[in-house]
Amino acid sequence: MAQTIDAFARYDRRRERGVPTYLQEKWNGLSELNRFLAGSENLEELAVSASRRIVEILEVDFCQILLMDLDGQCNCRARYSAREMLIKKKASLDPIEIENICHRFLDAENNTRLFLGMEHLSERERKSLGISNEDISWIIPMRVETNPIGVLILGQSASQQEQILTPDSYYLVDLIADQLASAVFRAQMNERIESVSIETVIVLSKALETRDLHSASHSKRMAALSEQLAKEFGFSARETRELCWAALLHDIGKIGVKDTILKKKGPLTEEEWAIIKTHPEIGAQIVRGVTGLEKIAPLILAHHERMDGKGYPNGLRGDEIPLGARILAVTDAYTTMTDGRPYQKKRKHQEALQELLEQAGSAYDREVVQLFIQLFNKKDSLE
Ligand SMILES: [Fe+2]
Repeated sequence: MAQTIDAFARYDRRRERGVPTYLQEKWNGLSELNRFLAGSENLEELAVSASRRIVEILEVDFCQILLMDLDGQCNCRARYSAREMLIKKKASLDPIEIENICHRFLDAENNTRLFLGMEHLSERERKSLGISNEDISWIIPMRVETNPIGVLILGQSASQQEQILTPDSYYLVDLIADQLASAVFRAQMNERIESVSIETVIVLSKALETRDLHSASHSKRMAALSEQLAKEFGFSARETRELCWAALLHDIGKIGVKDTILKKKGPLTEEEWAIIKTHPEIGAQIVRGVTGLEKIAPLILAHHERMDGKGYPNGLRGDEIPLGARILAVTDAYTTMTDGRPYQKKRKHQEALQELLEQAGSAYDREVVQLFIQLFNKKDSLE
């Protein structure tokens, strides 16, 4: 990396002397790529978009990204060229060939950072990669510390008059490969945590279901409505996913409440209400201890807070309540009213909306209520 920094310093000195360099515009492209990589969560989308952006920044004719998964299998191949764009998953490739290429260039014994493809790829391998014998290609192994990430392949058509892949570009390519490798590694770790988290949400929901069937169907409807609202508020894919998880598990803290209270037909006593009111804190405590679910703890904790500060457990007001929790409060209230409760009569859709409107600004966030009602206007019925 020190070499790379030296190279940039050299370019900067040239720029100061008024020597036109292509580096300034490359910097802009590089910053944009960096921002994109930092916000990418999905590996496949990341590989496809990154390959297109790399072609644009380096002005090469094509870019291929071969990625290994954490178990050392080649699981994704994205290719972008000025002429075509294709992405192939493992099933549609010659996986053994591609995996062999990855393993050979990622051989731990070999620390070479860049290979000239013409000398290092057999004719058969070139064919598998869709590179002609005349194309000039660079192959850059990507690692994060000792973890193999994949291989970046850049290419220039032999028909190009000017040679784009020159030693001057190496430093920029090296930097891009490093950034890409880090982003892929982070996305892989996130995917792994996410799959564990999904399994945990399912297990916890099932546990809740066995305790109180009513709550389980209520939570599923609530999650679907919350997802619609998250889209209206422009939540990212991650925020939307977390809101849905929070909706599914919002009442997980009731898991320890006795059936005699949970399923009581008549009105609850003051003491029984006090027990019920502990469920947001217990629920938040449960998910806080589960890797991948920590971020939904504040939503679960605050799903019974009110805009006027009269909610529980902390009496938060207005914007002090996380937006996700304000959404949950509305979808929870609507679903509870239209589902009915052992201690509450089931209400019709319009009556429930009317109740939300009447309490908008005091119990519920006015904007959330408005958007919620608009959801039903957009589609005749979400039910
Ligand atoms: Fe609740």
